[in-house]
Amino acid sequence: MKGKFITIEGIDGSGKSTVIKYINNYLGKLGYDIILTREPGGTEISENIREIIVNKKIDIKTEALLFAASRREHVVNKIIPALKNNKIIISDRFLDSSIAYQVYGRGLKKEDILYINNFAIEGLTPDFTIYLDVDIDVASSRLRNRLVNNVLDNENKKFYNNVKKGYVELLKKYNNRICVVDANKDQECVKEIVIKKIQEKFKEWQIN
Ligand code: TYD
Repeated sequence: MKGKFITIEGIDGSGKSTVIKYINNYLGKLGYDIILTREPGGTEISENIREIIVNKKIDIKTEALLFAASRREHVVNKIIPALKNNKIIISDRFLDSSIAYQVYGRGLKKEDILYINNFAIEGLTPDFTIYLDVDIDVASSRLRNRLVNNVLDNENKKFYNNVKKGYVELLKKYNNRICVVDANKDQECVKEIVIKKIQEKFKEWQIN
């Protein structure tokens, strides 16, 4: 496949959405043909699955299966066609999220999560991943300021600490693919760093 698949990862409140919008505007103005997408979601069916996952209290294994099902739909109907068309596709989350959240956060077995996801994605791996690393307290205060339901209350801090441990393990294992960016810095600074990292990758890939 000729295109490139980039993913952005991080805990809730790490600033992924802001950074992704900025990347899209910036690279769009430079004339790059970018497709933005997200998980869970990205296609009509996957967005329907997202509604179920984010709005309902759900059994953790059912949830893990729904993430995998939504991912399959996303891979088959959006990511692979984009890559075949030589596009650069940037996704807000991918498989690393299931390892960090379902395995390290929820405590499901890693081999089970890998098994259902391998069945779903058949080996598709991002070409490059940026992990926005943020302290739990910084993420929590950002979510408070956004006046959204603060998912990072005290009860959940342990959960997010575990999710972060998952990302640290992924970073160690896939240090060639995953690049970490300190997302505690102010958002302008984080955006600049991320753009720089992506442009370095484009150079390496000889994309002009
Ligand atoms: P996200 O869209 O990043 O959250 P937001 O609504 O704040 O933009 O992701 C929704 C939630 O789903 C988030 O808490 C992380 C979780 N998630 C998993 O647990 N596993 C997964 O595989 C994915 C893709 C997301």
